[in-house]
Amino acid sequence: MGTYFKFLSLQATLFAIFILSTTNFSSTTATATTTPPFKKIYAFGDSFTDTGNTKSATGPTGFGHVSNPPYGSTFFHHPTNRYSDGRLVIDFVAEALALPYLPPYPKNKRNATHGLNFAFAGSTAINHAFFVNNNLTLDVTPQSIQTQLIWFNKFLESQGCKGTVSSSSQCKALLDDALIWVGEIGVNDYAYSVGSSISSDTIRKLAISSVIQFLQAILKKGVKHVVIQGLPPTGCLPLSMSLTSEDDRDDMGCAKSVNNQSGTHNAMYQARLQEIRTQFPDATITHLDYWNAYRSVVKNPEAYGFKEPFKACCGSGTPPYNFDVFTVCGMPSASACPNPSQYINWDGVHLTEAMYKALFHMFVNDTFSQPPLGQLLGMKQNGR
Ligand SMILES: *[C@@H]1O[C@H](CO)[C@@H](O)[C@H](O)[C@H]1NC(C)=O
Ligand SMILES: *[C@@H]1O[C@H](CO)[C@@H](O)[C@H](O)[C@H]1NC(C)=O
Ligand SMILES: *[C@@H]1O[C@H](CO)[C@@H](O)[C@H](O)[C@H]1NC(C)=O
Ligand SMILES: *[C@@H]1O[C@H](CO)[C@@H](O)[C@H](O)[C@H]1NC(C)=O
Repeated sequence: MGTYFKFLSLQATLFAIFILSTTNFSSTTATATTTPPFKKIYAFGDSFTDTGNTKSATGPTGFGHVSNPPYGSTFFHHPTNRYSDGRLVIDFVAEALALPYLPPYPKNKRNATHGLNFAFAGSTAINHAFFVNNNLTLDVTPQSIQTQLIWFNKFLESQGCKGTVSSSSQCKALLDDALIWVGEIGVNDYAYSVGSSISSDTIRKLAISSVIQFLQAILKKGVKHVVIQGLPPTGCLPLSMSLTSEDDRDDMGCAKSVNNQSGTHNAMYQARLQEIRTQFPDATITHLDYWNAYRSVVKNPEAYGFKEPFKACCGSGTPPYNFDVFTVCGMPSASACPNPSQYINWDGVHLTEAMYKALFHMFVNDTFSQPPLGQLLGMKQNGR
């Protein structure tokens, strides 16, 4: 998801607006009988996974008001540059492994004992050059998953790891007990190309190829455990709902055209994963079914404690979605609901801590991960 909103001036209209996209740590010696399997996490992705990179690098500041309250109000009680009121799925993963919350990469290059977070809000799957070559550069974040790979390689090299786990003891020390977490990536590619002549078929093919290349590059280093995920039903975001007409709705009540795009993307991505699994039989590649987990919540929000499936908690006050691109969360004129835990959506694009927590539980407990994430995280045998 994007860091901010993109304002595209189209000739015919005044504006056509599209989104870009859209410490109190537990001890690692919690009990004598439970040894968490992973000592580190290296995470990649976009704003759904970014734990503070955007504001600590030279990224866009655009319309991102993520450094202002009420971002961070729920758990950290101050803005942390996370695009939510509180913790993200990756934070719940860190907690489950009894590891500290992942530090963002740019400011923590030298202190990566427990891993690093390379996820960068606004990142695309496709290389930035593609957007440049197609004149799609207005407020586009130049980072992509390939940039994150470059950062990761630089980090590894700075620690003496230049080969693979089997050829280099430095690589083994860095990667052998690491979980590789590849969060949502690809949503911004569609968002940045809205209104252009590039078809969503083209975006889908290029985006998925880029992510597959990224996965191959990481797996070639000899990592053993990778978690990947599809896209959420992006048509359910207040942003998408507010930009589409009331007759563009699917059985979830969400923007059908937009959901078709992310659903089609996921189907192709999952098909390509089979190739990767065959190519790297020694690695465990866990797939999280973000779409269907999210869908379960939208279909039955009350069962998960939600009252507002489609309305943003923090926004302009504009009905029916509490979303208006000119008055977004973090601006002085926007305000947050008093009960974010009853909302799926936080700011029109990103999710509330409550939703990230519900999704995490579903990935861990239910049938929305394959192979089961709870087992991978050692949660089942820990009885947690
Ligand atoms: C490194 O990070 C850990 C937490 O992960 C922290 O306790 C420690 O103080 C940090 N060290 C430095 C030198 O910043
Ligand atoms: C991009 O813009 C330049 C200059 O306006 C133009 O010459 C070029 O044809 C455009 N490229 C595309 C792919 O639209
Ligand atoms: C998307 O729409 C096409 C054409 O209507 C349809 O064939 C396809 O099944 C839809 N896919 C998803 C994932 O909704
Ligand atoms: C399983 O889900 C329930 C809520 O649905 C949650 O209370 C519980 O903590 C979850 N278990 C794990 C291991 O996350």
